[in-house]
Amino acid sequence: MPEPLDAALTKVRELLLDPNLTRAVAAGRRRGQRPSVVRAELRPVVLKAGRRLQISTSDGSRPYTRNVAPGTEAGAAVDALLAEPFGNWHVETADATLQLRVTKSGEAQLHRAAADRAGAEPSGHDRTKDYLLDPGDPIFAEIGGSAAKRRQVDAFLRALAATLPDELSGPLRVVDLGCGNAYLTFAAYRYLAQRGVDVELVGVDVREDQRRRNTELAERLGWADRVSFVAGTIADAVVEPAPDLVLALHACDTATDEALARAVRWRSRWVLAAPCCHHDIAAQLRTRPAPPPYDLLTRQGILRERFADVLTDALRAGLLRLHGYRTEVVEFVDSRHTPRNLLIRARRTDGTATGQQRAEYRDLVDQWQVRPRLARLLTEDAPGG
Ligand SMILES: C[S@@+](CC[C@H](N)C(=O)[O-])C[C@H]1O[C@@H](n2cnc3c(N)ncnc32)[C@H](O)[C@@H]1O
Repeated sequence: MPEPLDAALTKVRELLLDPNLTRAVAAGRRRGQRPSVVRAELRPVVLKAGRRLQISTSDGSRPYTRNVAPGTEAGAAVDALLAEPFGNWHVETADATLQLRVTKSGEAQLHRAAADRAGAEPSGHDRTKDYLLDPGDPIFAEIGGSAAKRRQVDAFLRALAATLPDELSGPLRVVDLGCGNAYLTFAAYRYLAQRGVDVELVGVDVREDQRRRNTELAERLGWADRVSFVAGTIADAVVEPAPDLVLALHACDTATDEALARAVRWRSRWVLAAPCCHHDIAAQLRTRPAPPPYDLLTRQGILRERFADVLTDALRAGLLRLHGYRTEVVEFVDSRHTPRNLLIRARRTDGTATGQQRAEYRDLVDQWQVRPRLARLLTEDAPGG
């Protein structure tokens, strides 16, 4: 049932200023009117100065972000936004989601739903302890805190915890290759630092805008002396001294191979790589017939793509084994949440590859007539290379 717009906006205002606010977005426009910005997003953040309401607006080309103090300042900023003729408001709090749509006749259609408990964060005390990083940790106010993101962060941290020994002596140098907006990087730092590990972390991404943004975020979090960012390619970025732990999470296509090759050259002790898309071997399989009797595996395009994914990661694991790493391929996020859920987890043992391990790898590439990118990246005279 439509209701008067003023009354509905008053309800929106209450939630926007509620300490339980998670995120709110205003967008669209009312009939015949145009807001001064095309979109506004609000979310709570915790800065050194304390809790703030972050308001990001966009005029369609450039974003503008400001942080306002709770109380009068936030109230005035929220009132100014509510006065804009937006067509929709979407407001999420820890308990509820409120959706306001302004009808053609200028009334409000309000829809309120309880927070999706199945998909949302566990907020009760007993479930919070199931998370390696408390869902209430202030870091989530900075890196974003949707339920899906927290689940992914937790799954990644569990894989990290299972890879590292319980006791670490000395500093742990970590590099995150293809770190993107670095929310997993920051989560890894926070988790390891909370465990008492002396961590130094470098995030590498080819995008200079990500370097700037991530560096600012590290400064805001007060971690800039321990977490730094470099703009450069995975293959060439200068990272000194060599890292003990290499992370490469969803780096595109053969960027995963570049990350694995660097880890091998650095002789890093641990590697966690979540492959993203796989095009290299898929493209090679398209150009040659499958060896008998496997034609049915690659005749259909979709099966060929999936098989190429499996073959790519199997060969990566095989190559790492030839280079002295004990390697496992595991599922790290439930496949309901993302199809990109494999993790290559490797620990350097310095073991020498056996003749059988070399033969297994060699037979597989010979039979399928493929040359994995990782093999090319590792030196020609390397085992299996
Ligand atoms: C899909 S994002 C993943 C970001 C982050 N690791 C995560 O899991 O959320 C892939 C990132 O890798 C970066 N990237 C891809 N290829 C790269 C390369 N060769 N060198 C450096 N960065 C690269 C992209 O710029 C992008 O930010």
